[in-house]
Amino acid sequence: MTTLVIGGAGYIGSHVVRLLLEQGKEVVVVDNLSTGLRQRTEGAELIELDVTLPDAREKLAFEMRACGADSVIHFAAHKQVGESVENPEMYWHDNIGGLANVLSACASAEVRDIVFSSSAAVYGMPDVDVVTEDLAPQPINPYGATKYVGSGCSPTPNGPTRCAPWPCGISTSPAPGGPSWPTPQ
Ligand SMILES: NC(=O)c1ccc[n+]([C@@H]2O[C@H](COP(=O)([O-])OP(=O)(O)OC[C@H]3O[C@@H](n4cnc5c(N)ncnc54)[C@H](O)[C@@H]3O)[C@@H](O)[C@H]2O)c1
Repeated sequence: MTTLVIGGAGYIGSHVVRLLLEQGKEVVVVDNLSTGLRQRTEGAELIELDVTLPDAREKLAFEMRACGADSVIHFAAHKQVGESVENPEMYWHDNIGGLANVLSACASAEVRDIVFSSSAAVYGMPDVDVVTEDLAPQPINPYGATKYVGSGCSPTPNGPTRCAPWPCGISTSPAPGGPSWPTPQ
């Protein structure tokens, strides 16, 4: 019974890893350390892997079987709005391609519990004080658009399509309060 946390060396992922470990759960982290830090994964096994590479699907499925993963939390993505406007191709390729590899690997390894880290950016700039999940998605930049498309993997009432043959959770990941853990040097 292991949770594979993809992007678990990152800002949000490392808080989730720490919480899971505190609860006595088995945790394995997959991360390419592009923005993550190895020391944030202390207490969990770290597998260095880029989920966007062509062979990532097979490697991920192998690792899921090897550690007996029964759940996956997927945080690994680019997340800079400005960068996404300057380099939209990279966002479509990596955020959507990486998610496709993760979902495919989950299907292959029969991992049924998946949480996808989405973003409030799927709602664009609605004219409201508080952005709630019942608002109509209206992304206004490529980052938000990739999160909107990625969110379509879940058959929620508003989800237009399903990429996985079972329900997925979607998190809009409000950033945990406080500084990164540990703070990058
Ligand atoms: N930080 C926020 O305020 C916020 C808000 C809403 C949603 N999110 C979403 O939460 C997720 C995590 O955000 P974060 O702030 O922790 O970002 P982060 O950059 O700190 O963490 C991302 C992690 O994923 C890893 N990663 C990136 N690309 C990878 C790849 N191709 N293969 C393997 N690992 C890869 C990075 O090394 C890093 O450890 C992202 O999907 C982001 O869109 C973040």
